[in-house]
Amino acid sequence: MKRMHLFLLVPLCLCNSAFAADDLMSRANKLFNPIPTKAPPLKGNPATAAKLDLGAKLFFDPRLSSSQLISCNTCHNVGLAGADLQETSTGHGWQKGPRNSPTVFNAVFDVAQFWDGRAKDLQTQAKGPVQAAVEMNSNPELVVKTLKSIPGYAPLFKAAFPRAADPVSFDNMARAIEVFEATLLTPDSPFDRFLKGDAAALNAREKRGLRIFMDKGCAPCHAGTNVGGVGYYPFGVREAPATEIRPSGDTGRFMVTNTESDRYVFKAPSLRNVAVTQPYFHSGKVWKLYDAVVVMSSAQLGVKLKEGEVEDTVAFLKTLTGRQPRLHYPLLPPSSDDTPHPQL
Ligand code: HEM
Ligand code: HEM
Repeated sequence: MKRMHLFLLVPLCLCNSAFAADDLMSRANKLFNPIPTKAPPLKGNPATAAKLDLGAKLFFDPRLSSSQLISCNTCHNVGLAGADLQETSTGHGWQKGPRNSPTVFNAVFDVAQFWDGRAKDLQTQAKGPVQAAVEMNSNPELVVKTLKSIPGYAPLFKAAFPRAADPVSFDNMARAIEVFEATLLTPDSPFDRFLKGDAAALNAREKRGLRIFMDKGCAPCHAGTNVGGVGYYPFGVREAPATEIRPSGDTGRFMVTNTESDRYVFKAPSLRNVAVTQPYFHSGKVWKLYDAVVVMSSAQLGVKLKEGEVEDTVAFLKTLTGRQPRLHYPLLPPSSDDTPHPQL
């Protein structure tokens, strides 16, 4: 009799855990999408091989900065998951900017760009850092003058923008960079494989973490393809974070909209590759993912997760690290006698 009970129980348990895994997978599939392997189409800026080639060169070209030392890649290092490992970025004249540099990987899937969403897309965004005094400290005139003085760029711009009367322009620079950035995707993370049906892609701890992430309420703010990047929320919904982590001078979207309810509102960032893009938050003041999860649970949810729950959540977040793009550092066309000299 006893033996029969056991016999019945074992398959029952197996069924239960199989159901649990299925249930977890179907719940996750309602909230998240895998990172695609190909760049999505860009509104009003169709990708071509020529634009991509030009965009890659411009992304790595330090001559877009007035010092000719700083390229997009300085702060969005493609060998470092598209970020720079600094609390806040260091730009022109060794100046420290006010915010942490987010990764450019998968940024194309975000609803808007920057921590406060002030640029509607990658193309608009790319014009910002070039002109920012604390970043590349240049201006459209100097950039165009510099690019026009580099003979090798003319045919590249012509091939990328064959119908333009004056192909070498600041706008076309931004268009080409956008096309390149849209290819910086990190598909095939363990979490993506799980979403696509491979139940074994996450281990038991990682699955517990995913369950916590959905059950405790992280997912409403960090969902979609990028596990974030789709909405704006106050940083400190339930409890204001320490001033060091949320400096009082940076009021986030309030500075964009001038609306009181936007004070300390920021884009809930993508958590894709979050395990390799430390430090965290717009201030970059938190270095450990464990600590970032603790801050989030108290500031956003008003809960204190148990140590094991934080560890499980961190284990899940680590499954968001995808296949990093493998790029060749491009050969950049040489300067000429007419190229403006670096201004340090
Ligand atoms: C934000 C691209 C140059 C530091 C961003 C974002 C993108 C991007 C796409 C938004 C990401 C997001 O919101 O998730 C570029 C391109 C550059 C460039 C194409 C070259 C033209 C630089 C440089 C620095 C830098 C040289 C550092 C000196 C930052 C910082 C932010 C940012 C601090 C966040 C700023 C904020 O939210 O206010 N960049 N970047 N970027 N980048 Fe860059
Ligand atoms: C930032 C995880 C809940 C909104 C972050 C970061 C992590 C994270 C790791 C830092 C990412 C980075 O700097 O690259 C979590 C976890 C949650 C949770 C594990 C659940 C325990 C929430 C909720 C909201 C939210 C519920 C919305 C109400 C934000 C915002 C930021 C952020 C706005 C940016 C804060 C800033 O630096 O200004 N989250 N999050 N998060 N999260 Fe969450």
